[in-house]
Amino acid sequence: MKFIELALKRQSTRKYSNKPVEEEAIERCIKAARIAPSACNAQPWKYIIVKDPVIKEKVAKATFGTIASFNKFTLESPVIAVIVIEKPNFMSRFGATVKDIDYHLIDIGITATHFCLQATEEGMATCMMGWFNEKEIHKILNIPKNLKIGLLISLGYEEEGYKQRMKIRKEENKVLSFDSY
Ligand SMILES: Cc1cc2nc3c(=O)[nH]c(=O)nc-3n(C[C@H](O)[C@H](O)[C@H](O)COP(=O)(O)O)c2cc1C
Repeated sequence: MKFIELALKRQSTRKYSNKPVEEEAIERCIKAARIAPSACNAQPWKYIIVKDPVIKEKVAKATFGTIASFNKFTLESPVIAVIVIEKPNFMSRFGATVKDIDYHLIDIGITATHFCLQATEEGMATCMMGWFNEKEIHKILNIPKNLKIGLLISLGYEEEGYKQRMKIRKEENKVLSFDSY
């Protein structure tokens, strides 16, 4: 698949079938995620792959509540990847302080994208999630209190008949200019 086709194919999937995900496919997603670039090569991430059904259900339930119920689809996805933000190396932290930019958050976005695109290439479906009960997930997965969770990614196969959506994006002239703002 050409890269542009892959990028177009990846979409946030919110309806999953109960088809299980193969271990090897997850490993390839992690392989792609692991080689992502990061500021000062700090690689400030650790992936926790949650696939035990009991633990996965607990994590899924921590992604929605009574008011914000939009992540309920996580109950269906067979796997949830939890990206923990590890302490970046000294150079990355130094650069972040000087430049006042949270490089580690950029790094998390890039590694998560690698993960999702590899999953897409495998014919699987994903959805990145930034909305979850962090405290609860810390408890469920024994994550040290001083580490933040960057993103969650649901992983599985789309429910049969789930449609490829049109990409709703800003016009090109709104997100691009040449040689000057
Ligand atoms: C950092 C981040 C956080 C997101 N959080 C959520 C979320 O909590 N729940 C959800 O359903 N989608 C979430 N999304 C998915 C976006 O809504 C989605 O990427 C966007 O609408 C574009 O649609 P597409 O991914 O299908 O192309 C998140 C995406 C990103 C990058």
